[in-house]
Amino acid sequence: MRSSGPTSRGVISVASHESDRPPSTFADTREPHLPNVVTAIAIKQTTKTIGAEVSGVGPDALLNDASIIATVTESLEANGVLVFRGLDLDPEVQVAFCRRLGEVDYSDGHHPVPGIYRVTRDTSKSSAAEYMKGTFHWHIDGCTPLHGEPPQKATLLSAKAVADSGGETEFASTYAAYDALTHTEKERFASLRVLHSLEASQRLVYPNPTPEQVKGWRARTTSIHPLVWTHRSGRKSLLISAHADRIIDMEAAESRALLDELMDRATKEDLVYRHHWSVGDTVIWDNTGVMHRATPYPAGSPREMLRTTIFGIEPIQ
Ligand code: OGA
Ligand code: MN
Repeated sequence: MRSSGPTSRGVISVASHESDRPPSTFADTREPHLPNVVTAIAIKQTTKTIGAEVSGVGPDALLNDASIIATVTESLEANGVLVFRGLDLDPEVQVAFCRRLGEVDYSDGHHPVPGIYRVTRDTSKSSAAEYMKGTFHWHIDGCTPLHGEPPQKATLLSAKAVADSGGETEFASTYAAYDALTHTEKERFASLRVLHSLEASQRLVYPNPTPEQVKGWRARTTSIHPLVWTHRSGRKSLLISAHADRIIDMEAAESRALLDELMDRATKEDLVYRHHWSVGDTVIWDNTGVMHRATPYPAGSPREMLRTTIFGIEPIQ
């Protein structure tokens, strides 16, 4: 891809089948049989550290353009979040596009189209509606896996119905959070390890849990990850969020204070991209370098997001 523009994240990209570097963190998705039909795609940053709005691309290009996968992959790596306003993707097209990006999660999503997971607090639309309160706290999907799987590579949401109030989605870059550390902090944090647990994130949702709830959370496997994730690309990100329970071998109060401070610094207003949804919008994020959360919206709200998840291929290390 040839890029031009005033910043390193590339304001304008002209799509082309040429690519300076292969999509390193995705599966090899080159498809020589497809034509290169996109002529110009505009990619405009939304905030200083995260997010870009993509225009000039329609559903047809997402499925049939040979160069789009390299363009999306590269822009996603550079910007963390890509916004496609008013794309109006059919669920089947959404899944087919995601298949071009990597391996799609086809587990039951309370939706007739395989590969679609329905995100909603409306119990008539999903039996998992009750769990959506967990999305109101900053998180990275898949940091407490059942069997040690790497966290999801990317997630795509399309808005089918929006909330009357609230229900925006916020994103903050964990790469930017690392980059903003002082030299001394980078040295000090290099060897720290953090316990991540479902209990830590659920306690924020249910501050006064029943003994049964606590028992259920504790039955779930916990994970220990480095505080600093060194990606295959060489970039480093801070692995923090609601599920970061405590720093190993650090006194509890000190550990909590440090994790809270890092979260505060990483999610300052000017470092957050907040997406105000309109029906038909599609947003995709790089789950390996981005934390996200929904702003609260009421139980029973008609808000409905159709989500497709691309499995991770890069372990946290
Ligand atoms: C998710 C998620 C946020 C939202 O689907 O993983 O956190 O705004 N969604 O619905
Ligand atoms: Mn999530």
